[in-house]
Formats: sequence, structure tokens, C-alpha cells
Amino acid sequence: MGVIVGGPRENEGFGHGYDKKIEPEAAKTLRSIDCNGNEYVYDKEKPFKSGADGNVYFAKATQPMSGETEVVVKVAKPEGYSELANESKFLNLLSNHPGVIKQLGFDLSESTIILEKAEGSLNNQSLIKNLSIKDKLSILSEVAATVDTLHKEKISHNDLNLKNILLKSGHAKLCDFGSALSFSKGNVIHKPITSEMQMMIDAGILSPNEVLSNLKITKKDAYNTDINDYFKLAYNLLTGSTEDNMIPRNYETVLAEKLKNHPDADKIINLFREFKENGPSERLLEKAINLFTL
Ligand SMILES: Nc1ncnc2c1ncn2[C@@H]1O[C@H](COP(=O)(O)OP(=O)(O)O)[C@@H](O)[C@H]1O
Ligand SMILES: [Mg+2]
Repeated sequence: MGVIVGGPRENEGFGHGYDKKIEPEAAKTLRSIDCNGNEYVYDKEKPFKSGADGNVYFAKATQPMSGETEVVVKVAKPEGYSELANESKFLNLLSNHPGVIKQLGFDLSESTIILEKAEGSLNNQSLIKNLSIKDKLSILSEVAATVDTLHKEKISHNDLNLKNILLKSGHAKLCDFGSALSFSKGNVIHKPITSEMQMMIDAGILSPNEVLSNLKITKKDAYNTDINDYFKLAYNLLTGSTEDNMIPRNYETVLAEKLKNHPDADKIINLFREFKENGPSERLLEKAINLFTL
């Protein structure tokens, strides 16, 4: 795959009939990308999501073709280079998993990855407003199954939230693997020391031991973070709550109200109670997979 940056040269245009009606000024910001033999175009000034680490664009095929007519292009800013490279590595590893968004191509020299396009993420109110409780539970069962598979493959996603779960044809697909971690080489990962941390050690604000323990991530802690995040997002999807730091105290009443016509309402509320009382565990994740599909 090659990525053409810089747009068309003067008087050149993109050809393929795509930009015949495009004003020359607008054409200057267009970018063209090849992916699996197809050409896609997006406007670099018009990302549909823009963050500190990069931009996300919709790109359209320039000619009638057999592959995808629209794809998503994610381009990292310098601050996001290493996360995008990390994301690309994990998407490649997980390319056959139906619960993970598919990477169609990448060009890390241009800090760009190309993804299959989904309808949107689960924080998008207009996308989820017509979903029934049954639909939401079925989506949550799929997410739990994907997280469970990741853990069996010794991977933690490490940034699970409604924004990072996409919906495509009614099915959940995880995206945004920029913070994912692999424990294939052992049960502990040591993150590299940052320049800020080194400065704090030099200034005597932190001891080297404190810094080292902060940089150490165990597999168990990383998996528990995913499971904690999973139960929070499950609660948020089921109840419409947007509070992202914790499940509130009155969760049982709220869930009972939302699940009132569901035959397994009591079992589902019990599952959240077990989570609140005992904390995260793989067993609870497995229970969610089974209970939410019934
Ligand atoms: N393949 C895709 N299809 C549709 N929307 C997407 C796709 N990938 C990302 N998005 C949207 O863009 C947002 C940001 O993408 P994400 O990969 O999470 O980047 P960031 O690292 O900036 O959070 C997502 O929350 C989602 O709304
Ligand atoms: Mg994200």
C-alpha cells in the first residue's frame, strides 16, 4: 500500500472522475490513499474526529469497485506516533477476530492506518437510541467475549469505554488499540521511564523505587482494569448514564427500572452486585458472556 501525501500537483487533479467538480482550492487539501488496489480520497482539513494524538477521516473510493466503497483513515500527529504503531501491531495480530475492527492497510512511514468503516461508536446517542435492552445485552455479550479472548491471547486492551466500541451491522467491534499491552513475554511489563519522571527523581520529589513500582504493570492488574472498565461501560450502555468514573450507589434501583420487563433482570442485577462487592474477575466476565445472550 502506498499513501500519497501532499495532494495533487498544480493542474494535475486526481483523475478517475472524482474531482471534476471540486474547486482547485478545496482540491489542495485532498489526500489520496491506495489500499488493496483501490484508491480512496479524504479531505485532510475535514476529520470527523480530531484529538491530541491524531485525526480520523472518512475516505471514499474514487471509482466504482468491488471492495469497500468507504473506509476510515486514522492519521497520527507526532504525539501519537508510538500509539498508532502499537495499535497497528495489535490490529494485525487480531485481524481474524470478528469482535475487532479490521485493519485494511497501514503505512507507518506516513503514520496512517486504514480501517473498515463502522456505523459509529456506542457513545453515539443517535446510533443507540433505537436499540432495545435485548440488543444492548447482546452487544455487551459480544464485547465480553472479545475481551475474554484478548485475555486468553495474553493481551489487555487497556482503554475500554463506549467510544472505543464500534457497531457494524448490529455487531460490536473493538477499536483503538493504541494503549493495548501484550503479556506474551511474561506476567509483568516495565514501561519506559518518561523524562518528567526522571526530572522528579532528579529533583528529589519521587524516589527511584516509587517510580519503578509505577512503571510496573502486572498481567492481573491490566486484566482487572479491562474488566472494571467493561462493567462500567455495560452499566452506562444499559442505563444511559454518562458518568464514566464509577457505577453509582443506587445502581440496583436504576437497573431494576431499566430491566423491568426482562426475564433475567434479577440475575443481571446480581451480577452487577457481585462485581460491586467482590471487584473484577475473569469469572464475572464469563458470566456476562452467557447471561447477556439469554
Ligand atoms: N473504523 C471506524 N468506523 C467508524 N468510526 C470510527 C472508526 N474508527 C474510529 N471511529 C470513530 O472515531 C473515534 C476516535 O477513534 P479512535 O480510534 O478511538 O481514536 P482516538 O485514539 O483518538 O480515541 C471513535 O470513538 C469512533 O467514534
Ligand atoms: Mg478512542
